[in-house]
Amino acid sequence: MTTPATLILTRPDDWHVHLRDGEGMRDVVADTVRQFARAIVMPNLKPPVATVAQAEAYRERILAALPKGSDFTPLMTLYLTEATLPLEIERARRTGWIHAVKYYPAGATTHSEAGVRDLAHCRETLKAMEDLGLPLLIHGEVTDAAVDVFDRERVFIERHLIPLVQRYPRLKVVLEHITTASAVKFVLTAEDNVAATVTPHHLLYNRNALFQGGVRPHYYCLPVLKREEHRQALVRAVASGNPKFFLGTDSAPHARNTKENACGCAGIYSAHAALELYAEAFEAAGALDRLEGFASHFGADFYGLPRNTSRVTLVRESWTVPAGHPFGQDTLVPLRAGEQVAWRLQALN
Ligand code: DOR
Ligand code: ZN
Repeated sequence: MTTPATLILTRPDDWHVHLRDGEGMRDVVADTVRQFARAIVMPNLKPPVATVAQAEAYRERILAALPKGSDFTPLMTLYLTEATLPLEIERARRTGWIHAVKYYPAGATTHSEAGVRDLAHCRETLKAMEDLGLPLLIHGEVTDAAVDVFDRERVFIERHLIPLVQRYPRLKVVLEHITTASAVKFVLTAEDNVAATVTPHHLLYNRNALFQGGVRPHYYCLPVLKREEHRQALVRAVASGNPKFFLGTDSAPHARNTKENACGCAGIYSAHAALELYAEAFEAAGALDRLEGFASHFGADFYGLPRNTSRVTLVRESWTVPAGHPFGQDTLVPLRAGEQVAWRLQALN
């Protein structure tokens, strides 16, 4: 198949992004808005966005940080804690602008301390979500220090996810940023109310990227990059055109000094070139014709939202990613910094 010089797609959405808060937010929101019409915004602020009132205030701050004239829609989420009541779920459902609840196992990742230690403490709340059709978005890693960091997703599926979907068979579940063949298999075998997001970095890189000539903190994220065989399983899943797999960048900005550090933060920033990076992955798999479903249709269908009607154009023209990107008073290092990306997204007109 020869690669087309341009690709015209329905405008995509990002079903998993970290926009942060405060000064840096304006800088990263601008990238997401350039790429996407809507995005599911993660609630792992400090303190977490755990109530409808907090989500409303955060939404206002995001809207205030949008570039002038932008029609971008932030799709808000609540952070699940062991204190989240079914009443809060009912309130969230009624807003019409809260679209999901995020489950972080306590201690699994950035700002997850307020997360859930034992899902058994959330039974009524999960039941309310199941009844009201509010999706549960899952960071699927065990926090058990005895489990190897590369096995934490697989073990989470065995210990927690299989029992969860058995207990709540109608609960809408998105297993976020999947990284393993086990996750692909789990999603494929599950019912249609179970789906997954896939990041550009997990499609393009395996764990060797972390150690290329030395420790590379800008390739460190959670769940951590895995072996090549797992990357290939993810590529096969998205290239198959199965609607259970859709776009979620997990773009997670951190100031440069917090990553280039003796204990560097987890998170890869990809919002500056998200669709272009996905296009590279789909092109390498010979599946560019499957990009539009993954990027622009399947997520909206899963969330029960209308597909976008406007379009974007990708041109096969390489460009160099800047070495740094402003992030409030700081700088962050974007994915592919100083290197080439093979596709370029044309500005919306
Ligand atoms: O790498 C990650 N960064 N994984 C997460 O789950 C959280 C995210 C963040 O917020 O920085
Ligand atoms: Zn995330």
